[in-house]
Amino acid sequence: MSIQSLGYLRVRSSKLDEWETFARDVLGFMPAYGPDADAQYYRLDKYPYRFVVVPGDDAGLEAVGYEVGDDRDLAAVAARLEAAGVAVKLGDAEAAKERLVSGYLAFEDPAGVPVEIFYGPILDHVPVVTPKVSGFVTGDMGMGHVVVNVPEIDPAVDFYRDVLGFHSRNTWNFNAMSMAFLGCNPRHHTLAFGAGLPIPGQLIHFMVEAATIDDVGYAQDRCLDAGVTVSSSIGKHTNDHMISFYCVSPDGYMVEFGWGGLQLGEPEQLTTYQITKPSFWGHRPLKP
Ligand code: FE2
Repeated sequence: MSIQSLGYLRVRSSKLDEWETFARDVLGFMPAYGPDADAQYYRLDKYPYRFVVVPGDDAGLEAVGYEVGDDRDLAAVAARLEAAGVAVKLGDAEAAKERLVSGYLAFEDPAGVPVEIFYGPILDHVPVVTPKVSGFVTGDMGMGHVVVNVPEIDPAVDFYRDVLGFHSRNTWNFNAMSMAFLGCNPRHHTLAFGAGLPIPGQLIHFMVEAATIDDVGYAQDRCLDAGVTVSSSIGKHTNDHMISFYCVSPDGYMVEFGWGGLQLGEPEQLTTYQITKPSFWGHRPLKP
C-alpha cells in the first residue's frame, strides 16, 4: 500500500505572469494544457504535469500529491488514514478528471499541510520537450522532493512513518533549528520537515533533479541573467549528495535545482543518521 513517490505539486499564487517566466524560462519546465484554463500546468516527463500553479490571492500550497500504484493501494491508504483518525475526502470521478488522474483522495496532515494521494495519471503521449534542460530525473522516484515548515518535527515524522509508510533517512539539529528527512523510494528524501525556520507559510522549498551537472550550471546562469535571486550557490549536500543551487520563486519560497542525488537501496534505505552541517561545500549566498 505504500506511497511510491512525490507525484505532483499544486501551488496557489496571484503572480501567474511571473510564474510563467520563472517555471518555463528559468527552471526549464514544459508548459502544458490542463483542464483548468486559468491554471498553469508544467511537465517534466511523460506525466500530464508535475507542477501546477492555480490562481489565488494567498500564495501557498494547494496540494502535495503522492502517488500509489493502483485503486487497491488507494483504498488501503484511505483505510489507514481513517484508522488513524484522519478525515479523508474521497475524490469523485469528476474531480479526478480535473486532476488528470484515475482516482485520488485528499486530507490535511497533522501540521495542516494539504495532501492528495492518487493513482493512474492520465497520459496524453505527447513527447516532453524541455529545450533548456537535457532531462529531469523522475520515473519511479517521482517529481523530486518537498520540504515543509511544521510547528513540531516529531508528530509530523511519526505520522508519515507510521501511517503512510515513509522511511526515516536522517536528521539535522542546529541551534534552534531542526530538520528531518524521509524517503519512500531510492531517492534519498521525498519529504523533509523543518521547524524553527524563519519562513512564512508551509512551503520551504521543492527540488527537481536534472540529468546532468551542466543543466545545473546553465539553470543558475539563467537565474542570474533573469534577475532571479540565487539564495544558495552551487554546493553539495551532506545527506543526499545532491549538487544543487537554490533560487527564490515568485512567491518567496525556494526551488532547489540539482543533479546527482544519492539513490539508496536496501539495506541503506532503512539506515538513519544525523548530519551536523547541510553541505560539504558551497550553498553560499550569491552576492549580485
Ligand atoms: Fe532540498
